[in-house]
Amino acid sequence: MMIRLDKFLADMGYGTRSQVKKELSKGSVTVNGAPVRKPETKIDTEKDAVCWKGEPAAYAEYEYFMLNKPFGVVSATEDKKEKTVLDLLRSDKGSDGGTGMRREDLFPVGRLDKDTEGLLLITNDGELAHRLLSPKKHVDKVYYAEIRGKVDEEDVRLFARGLDIGDEKITLPAELKIINPGEISRIQVTVREGRYHQVKRMFRAVGKEVIYLKRLSMGNLALDEALAPGEFRRLTEEEVGRLC
Ligand code: URA
Repeated sequence: MMIRLDKFLADMGYGTRSQVKKELSKGSVTVNGAPVRKPETKIDTEKDAVCWKGEPAAYAEYEYFMLNKPFGVVSATEDKKEKTVLDLLRSDKGSDGGTGMRREDLFPVGRLDKDTEGLLLITNDGELAHRLLSPKKHVDKVYYAEIRGKVDEEDVRLFARGLDIGDEKITLPAELKIINPGEISRIQVTVREGRYHQVKRMFRAVGKEVIYLKRLSMGNLALDEALAPGEFRRLTEEEVGRLC
């Protein structure tokens, strides 16, 4: 793939485009052994050897991160008022020292509500995102939730049948597991669609209220429980392979 040198370096997290240009003008970057100062220089990512301050810099076309989305952050790339999940990735809470997070083409795969926590995949791989989000693919999404009201076997049956949540069609069958029934019930639910506020609306349809919601997995990808809310890490090659 051919790419401008300043974009190559900014995508790989060496700085913003202007920071990268400053370093280029100092002669800190070599291509195939020779200093290159022009930001517009075209790089062949497969053949050219780029070094940043003497260290080899490789280019990854696609990048994949899992974020444990915290409460209070919106699933968007930019927002005028609210903190976004991409703001978190631009911070230093990654497990690999901050590389790769400044690239401008990352986006969250689908949305979690502002008050929902848990697994959010962030990538620049549009095709993968499309496959995971396609309504035809019915990718399983597993959530842990705390519900105001006693969740019982009748709810399990209603979820398994599909619920009228006010859309044109009833929901696809969802698997509801009761972990601990009570005034506040703890449950796990697997849904195969990604409708707006789906879990909350399904519980509302059976007269109950979600008071805490966390996504545990999406398809074959499970949240790494070692990640505290707000932390993220790159997917391993094996995890990426399982998603593709
Ligand atoms: N269902 C919801 O109601 N909210 C989410 O954030 C995800 C699924």
